[in-house]
Amino acid sequence: MVGHEPFDDPMAQLGAWLEAGRAAVPHPDTMTLATATPDGRPSARIVLLRGLDTRGITFFTNRTSRKGDDLRLNPRAAAVVHWWELGRQLRVEGDVEETTEDESRAYWETRPRGSRIAAWASRQSRALAARAELDAHVAEAEERFAGLDVPLPPFWGGYRIVPTSIEFWTHRENRLHDRVRFVREAEGWRSELLAP
Ligand SMILES: Cc1cc2nc3c(=O)[nH]c(=O)nc-3n(C[C@H](O)[C@H](O)[C@H](O)COP(=O)(O)O)c2cc1C
Repeated sequence: MVGHEPFDDPMAQLGAWLEAGRAAVPHPDTMTLATATPDGRPSARIVLLRGLDTRGITFFTNRTSRKGDDLRLNPRAAAVVHWWELGRQLRVEGDVEETTEDESRAYWETRPRGSRIAAWASRQSRALAARAELDAHVAEAEERFAGLDVPLPPFWGGYRIVPTSIEFWTHRENRLHDRVRFVREAEGWRSELLAP
């Protein structure tokens, strides 16, 4: 999209923005992910945006982490990406589903061995008595998988945010930014302009 030209397929537009981000920004996939407990207590953290298709956007994590706990009980999320270099902010809100084991494994297999060992060793988001405890878990995982391929842990995998709303924000002068929000409806997407 150039500036405020209209468009009508927000998933394709999302793809085009990610492509533009990858061409222009050092770490374009750095995404803030917000989840909430069932009683509405929010939390946010950075994850890497690892996939996009017509269904939604995906990221990968430990499903027994705090975000995993939130998503099990309240499968909804919001995500935001900002690229200074392009003057763009992308906001996605939606329902969350787990990726299939095959999808999780396909991504897992792209991860270096050290990251795979770390995934087995780290009980993500749980309290550690000391750093040494983590080091011991790493040593255990290294011993367990010595000489072997490090398999996909049963507690690790992807989530897909299936968007119900996508906002494309473009910086413009004097804070008179462009904001185009798409909201998913039964028949398709409805778009609206929002005041900056
Ligand atoms: C640049 C960056 C990228 C990250 N990517 C991921 C990721 O893709 N998956 C992940 O689980 N954690 C990632 N993290 C760590 C998370 O921010 C967070 O510390 C961790 O997932 C635990 O979050 P939780 O306790 O809310 O579940 C990343 C952190 C940074 C700073």
